[in-house]
Amino acid sequence: MKLNLNNVNLSVTAGRSDQFPKDPRPRVAFAGRSNVGKSSLINSLLRRKSLARTSASPGKTITVNFYDVDGQLYLVDLPGYGFAKRSPEEKRRWSSLTDGFFTKNENIDLVKLVVQLIDSRIGPTGDDLDMLSFMTECSIPHVIVATKSDKLNGAGKQKILDILKSEPLFSSSKGTLLYSSSNHAGREELWRYILDSCEL
Ligand code: GTP
Ligand code: MG
Repeated sequence: MKLNLNNVNLSVTAGRSDQFPKDPRPRVAFAGRSNVGKSSLINSLLRRKSLARTSASPGKTITVNFYDVDGQLYLVDLPGYGFAKRSPEEKRRWSSLTDGFFTKNENIDLVKLVVQLIDSRIGPTGDDLDMLSFMTECSIPHVIVATKSDKLNGAGKQKILDILKSEPLFSSSKGTLLYSSSNHAGREELWRYILDSCEL
């Protein structure tokens, strides 16, 4: 199936889980710590500069944003976790939103893939490993993407791939790849995972 990437729009900005769309289109969600590059990755996949809002300071995305791609699927930008400077109130809101997405979501079966982002210069954090155990326990299909690969040389790229592939928790993922939203390395490969998972 060929998607028309000129036909993409931010369809739903949800601050509460009851605002999530209810139609049966497949969803592909992007998870990871704040500032890891989720919104930038969505822009890169969709070949847009600033459809998804990005920021150098963590905590930019605070709602669950559903991007409608050619009426065929949603790419879902989740708020990032692990941002220490959030207020307790913000942290509560974050938990209730992401819980709402992953556990209180009657449409969880429509989440065909979670793209789990790991910063390639930092490696997996405790929060990343928690997220991975959760997805493994709940059998949520996921792929691991090491972001900001343009900041690494060849040896650095191999090192992060080795780290990710040696972590037992990562063995339940569908695969591991490097991505750069600056030079778009990894874009075709990630689209293949997305389209295969959505059976498009
Ligand atoms: P939250 O919305 O806070 O959860 O963050 P996010 O994960 O959406 O991160 P965002 O896409 O806003 O990117 C954070 C910062 O990293 C921005 O300054 C981006 O320009 C930068 N960045 C993201 N991806 C890349 C990349 O592939 N390469 C480089 N060099 N910088 C990147
Ligand atoms: Mg964001």
